[in-house]
Amino acid sequence: MKSRYSYKETLETAEKVGWRVEDIIGGDKRLDFTRPFLPESLARVEPMDFLSSEEKLVLNQIRGYGYLYTFGLVEEFILPFLLDHARPQLNGDDYRTRALLRFAGEEAKHIQLFKQFATEFKNGFATPCDTIGPPQEIARAVLSHSPLGVVLVILQIEWMTQRHYLDSVRDDHALDPQFKSLLRHHWIEEAQHAKLDTLMAEALSDACSPAEVEKGISDYAAIGGLLDGGLRQQVEFDMQSFQRATGRELNRAEQDRFRAIQTQAIRWTYLGSGMTHPKFLETVGDLRPAARANIEQMARAFC
Ligand SMILES: [Fe+2]
Ligand SMILES: [Fe+2]
Repeated sequence: MKSRYSYKETLETAEKVGWRVEDIIGGDKRLDFTRPFLPESLARVEPMDFLSSEEKLVLNQIRGYGYLYTFGLVEEFILPFLLDHARPQLNGDDYRTRALLRFAGEEAKHIQLFKQFATEFKNGFATPCDTIGPPQEIARAVLSHSPLGVVLVILQIEWMTQRHYLDSVRDDHALDPQFKSLLRHHWIEEAQHAKLDTLMAEALSDACSPAEVEKGISDYAAIGGLLDGGLRQQVEFDMQSFQRATGRELNRAEQDRFRAIQTQAIRWTYLGSGMTHPKFLETVGDLRPAARANIEQMARAFC
């Protein structure tokens, strides 16, 4: 399959736009807890009319912490996957090797960046926030699937970060500047990652029999189900964290509304916004047109 992207061009762009963790956090670069961390399209706190504006802000920040943690978590399986994918052809195309190793290095850097932001959050937020995991266990479960299934999940995640920044973050001037800077810098490097994921998905599918492509697509759906189960658990944790942080005890009806609104919010954030990305669907459609139609159908539950 002739790709629309190339390792050489992607590497050249990556080398031009690269940044250091030290440029983004540390010293006087601090989180401002008087501001929201996530845009409303991801946090969806406004429909929760039983909360005060201060409580909505606290919930937005809890979701922001969840964002740091969840990206750290998915990058825990992206990094080993990349190394495994690069290794068998280290003596092939030099641009391929360099682009993939740089990609891996950037993901290791992103893991560190998200961790540093998470530490800064914990230092500034009044109470602890619970999270799903441990990340290594989730990574092991994801990586037990076929490489084509895993690469489709990674492709979806990287296009998703593009959408988050361009559609919701870039023009939102109410956000904490530090958190916004994190999302902007992540977006800058993920733009190359999404292209490299496309190249990896194409290479893996070219080497697959029709039955293996079928298996890859069903593994993609299985991993999506696994992640969705984790996200629903995260909503329960967020509700506990919210009650702990605000001292407010939600009654049964409020808990049900919290669960319903935040489940849709978190599903859109980490699944729907990637599943419906036109570039992701384009790659899946090239692989198998019927799979694209299935994913479009499935995505309705996550939007
Ligand atoms: Fe990343
Ligand atoms: Fe990435």
